[in-house]
Amino acid sequence: MVEFNLPADSKISTGKTVKAPDGATRIKRFKIYRYDPTVNENPSLDTFEVDLDTCGPMILDALLKIKNEMDATLTFRRSCREGVCGSCAFNIDGTNTLACTKPIADVSGDVKVFPLPHLPVIKDLVPDLSQPYAQYASIKPWLMADGSAPPVGEHLQSPAERAKLDGMWECILCFSCQTSCPSYWWNGDRYLGPAVLLQAYRWIADSRDTAADKRLDDLDDPFKLFRCHTIMNCTNTCPKGLNPGQAIAEIKKDLAKRL
Ligand code: SF4
Ligand code: FES
Repeated sequence: MVEFNLPADSKISTGKTVKAPDGATRIKRFKIYRYDPTVNENPSLDTFEVDLDTCGPMILDALLKIKNEMDATLTFRRSCREGVCGSCAFNIDGTNTLACTKPIADVSGDVKVFPLPHLPVIKDLVPDLSQPYAQYASIKPWLMADGSAPPVGEHLQSPAERAKLDGMWECILCFSCQTSCPSYWWNGDRYLGPAVLLQAYRWIADSRDTAADKRLDDLDDPFKLFRCHTIMNCTNTCPKGLNPGQAIAEIKKDLAKRL
């Protein structure tokens, strides 16, 4: 089993260890980032020994078991438990992904769980998502259709027009891609990031939306869009198999066509 040792100069201290019950034979160790804003201490990495014979198969099952049976103060977001709400995204085993769809069996050795990187931490595994949500609101993620009501009550699309939205409507705003992007780490206050840009292109590509030109005007900015350097961590990490890197490239192409 690989031993995870914190570097000597780490600001994260080694925390407590909670042992598995006596008699447990299939033990998996979970090393979990802990931070409590109410105490004046650096974060720690706590170890929980989970008995896999009494635990469900996913990382989220283990986190729930730890919270229910070992330490009720462990704090994290989750809701749907089936990969559709986007709230259980963490850095697991070095990769941003969803705890509810990541099997424990996929991780060899200890399971290390950290909050999504490069965001302020509110508590334990809960990052402050104020900035990405404000950026999401800034791209006006709703249909803008000249204010004109469609003649038959619905804004109609052909199957081909509708198909252009595939690969984008499935985004659950988990921000795994956003927080895997070095450009977002460095310039997150001004670069919109891959999740928000994928959402922006979702509306630009929508045949029912009449504000594409205005949307492109708003994105034509050296920081909002062009701080993407095609590193592609976003596409590699998306737990829904989406391609934010391609959506960003499509926006750049649409802007280039106007030159
Ligand atoms: S593109 Fe993928 S990783 Fe990014 S927010 Fe959407 S679902 Fe999450
Ligand atoms: S709990 Fe909803 S995506 Fe994991």
